[in-house]
Amino acid sequence: MSSVWSSPNPLLFGRGSAGETGAELRKLGCVKALVVYDAGVAAAGIADKVIAAIESAGIAVVRFDRVQADPPDWSVEEAGALGVAQGVDCVVGVGGGSSLDTAKAAKLLITNPPPLKQYYGREGVVTKPSVPLILLPTTAGTGSECTPGGVITDTERGIKTNIAGVGCSVTLGIVDPELTFGLPAGVTASTGMDALCHCIESYTSERANPFSAVAGREGIDLVAKYLVRACGNGSDAEAREGMMLASSLGGIAMSGALCHLSHDIGRSLGAKFHVPHGNGCAACLPQVLEAVAPVKTAEVRYFAERFGAALAPDASADEVGRAGYEAARGLMAEIGLPSMKRLGLDRAALLDAVPDEVVMQCQMAAKAGFVTSPIPVTRELIANIVARAYDEN
Ligand SMILES: [Fe+2]
Repeated sequence: MSSVWSSPNPLLFGRGSAGETGAELRKLGCVKALVVYDAGVAAAGIADKVIAAIESAGIAVVRFDRVQADPPDWSVEEAGALGVAQGVDCVVGVGGGSSLDTAKAAKLLITNPPPLKQYYGREGVVTKPSVPLILLPTTAGTGSECTPGGVITDTERGIKTNIAGVGCSVTLGIVDPELTFGLPAGVTASTGMDALCHCIESYTSERANPFSAVAGREGIDLVAKYLVRACGNGSDAEAREGMMLASSLGGIAMSGALCHLSHDIGRSLGAKFHVPHGNGCAACLPQVLEAVAPVKTAEVRYFAERFGAALAPDASADEVGRAGYEAARGLMAEIGLPSMKRLGLDRAALLDAVPDEVVMQCQMAAKAGFVTSPIPVTRELIANIVARAYDEN
């Protein structure tokens, strides 16, 4: 069977690279940019810094500063409509995953008429090419600057879904670690766990391949080395740069291999319970690693050993699974990541909603040819993982 090796768009990586945004737009022949960001990015002064770099290159700017968390369809349609009304010829997204996904959808809607819902799905959705899109992440987690699709909340069905295709493809990612220097420890922890989940899930995905494994393993190494440091000291430049690199590598790793159970559960926690994406994806990671260890023993072992596990050469799959579980739990405790219980979620409500939602989403993905979990996804499996994660983490 063939596998998908996805080598996404170019990246400009390095401290200070955000200052080159205007020059990069000029190279693309652009004269009027829709700049997409949220209130937090504005308050941190990052939006003004990027906009100044764009305007200094003689490019006019139209601001969309109303990005919503877990971007709902109506909000991204507003962004797209503003771009069309203002006649922009490029889109720039600045921020975390929600801002970057809103920018992707806005780009798509500039040449593909609304409603957005007609473009939901992964491969097989036909969209027209659109204007150039430059993305500048301000968190080290999403990897969205090098993935070919975005995640949108479908408010009619109350679920998170995907957009993809040439209509929302990224022209250039500008990855400037300096944009993350002011991030609080809680956001650093949550987004860093998102990056880690991208790396370990794509590495253990049913669609994993040698290309995604190289990126995933390197990302795991970097998170093991730098996440605790970045959480402990936000101005540790080397740690911030390492985490930014891990985030982009996670995006590259998952572009072809995709994520599985931790993200499937995390998406449901986000859509139904408004849990921040990184917290939601990490919420069940220890239990997921233990569950997949029997079929992904070498990969879970790699993960556990990077976080300090001492395993005998002939360790059994069960022992490896336990070590992966302990390694993930230890990291989450060290960075103070809140558990589902600490987030105030109701156990019964979770068990009522999440297993059915995850199974339904996985069945839909399987019908479209996307099987990512290395073990069969059943209601019982997900209920067991969620219940244990709630009680143990
Ligand atoms: Fe993610």
